[in-house]
Amino acid sequence: MHINELIEKKKHGQDLSSEEIHFWIKGYLAGEIKDYQVSALLMAIYFQGLNERETYDLTKELIESGDTVDLSSIQGIKVDKHSTGGVGDTTSLVLGPLVAAVGCPFAKMSGRGLGHTGGTLDKLEAIEGLSIDLSVEEFIQQVNEIGIAIAGQTANITPGDKKLYSLRDATQTVDNMSLIASSILSKKIAIGSDALILDVKVGDGAFMKTVKEAEELSQELVKLGHSFNRNVMALITSMDQPLGQAVGNLIEVQEAIRVLQGQGPKDLEELCLNLGSKVLVLAKKFQDQDLAYKALEETIVNGKALEKFNELIKAQGAKTDAEGLLKQELSPLLAEVKAKEDGYISTIHALSIGEAARRLGAGRLTMEDVIDPGAGIYLLKKVGDPVKKGQAIAKIYGKKNPDLDSIIQDIHKAISYSKEAIPEPQLILHEVL
Ligand code: URA
Ligand code: CA
Repeated sequence: MHINELIEKKKHGQDLSSEEIHFWIKGYLAGEIKDYQVSALLMAIYFQGLNERETYDLTKELIESGDTVDLSSIQGIKVDKHSTGGVGDTTSLVLGPLVAAVGCPFAKMSGRGLGHTGGTLDKLEAIEGLSIDLSVEEFIQQVNEIGIAIAGQTANITPGDKKLYSLRDATQTVDNMSLIASSILSKKIAIGSDALILDVKVGDGAFMKTVKEAEELSQELVKLGHSFNRNVMALITSMDQPLGQAVGNLIEVQEAIRVLQGQGPKDLEELCLNLGSKVLVLAKKFQDQDLAYKALEETIVNGKALEKFNELIKAQGAKTDAEGLLKQELSPLLAEVKAKEDGYISTIHALSIGEAARRLGAGRLTMEDVIDPGAGIYLLKKVGDPVKKGQAIAKIYGKKNPDLDSIIQDIHKAISYSKEAIPEPQLILHEVL
């Protein structure tokens, strides 16, 4: 077998056999097949696609390229959540404590943020002393003891995906549904939770720009999950404006804490309660979503969810607790962005806000960039809110920044106004089972 035969076949729209896909991934990881050859194959796949069986085989090869984590020694029905990436998306830091507080173990291995989307690990690392480097044994032990752990992928999980994803990123071949689905699910299946909910974001701040694309990806993901006998569902949610009010790291940790105290932004709370109640039904912990929803709300009211958050960060080495984190100073306030018109906010372009936050130091462009945990943007107004010209609509935090003026201009460009009242935008669009 030679890799060029595979490129030739795919170029002409023919299917690759299971053996051929095995040969490709194994050879690529061994360094016998080169980046330039795989680049050509990926581009052929981009144009010709992969069928269901090929996608399954690729996912299987990616899973088998590294270690898998067996969570069966953890009592109870383990749940996990994955978001396809958004702006200001603090969901995992809220959802994890919520579901753990009703007795469903939450076992999540997470990724880092790149570009305009933030990663859960970077947010957690804004907490002084906290470590995300848990060994598989520590990870399992922690979930057994307190019902929750959120760790980095320290173990050698799906190295095939890591290598392939970097190459896709460098060759404009990320945006193929089958490649995305195999990449996401290989990581999730390698870590064996019992129920997985996927938050598929759609909108200007997301990978998927249209509902049609988000539906296609959701269906691909759910079908692929089922073919591995996994209990998976997807919720398609809007990412047209940042989620909640905070975009950054420490600032989003503080926002997550406020949601757990019942004082957070309503959109973020609603998303977390929806994702949480759906995954609890998927995990058969509750018979219907209303009951699950009420149970989760109750953990906010009685303080159990916040307690779980404190247990989580303490177990992973935090030097302080939720109260201490709320008191912690962000980076200096660099500016307030003021409304340019009277009226109602009609759009807050999520991608531009995410980019602005990144330029303030809240995110990274390359894996080598260093994050300023205290940098970020706080939106005082959201879509639909009335504003007066000159009123503050956003606060921006960061270290001294030579690009400050241009960042402020970009935030202004991200915001538009309407003279008429704007209906509240719909956050949860639909579910794919
Ligand atoms: N996220 C992933 O993990 N992989 C993709 O291919 C796209 C988004
Ligand atoms: Ca947020």
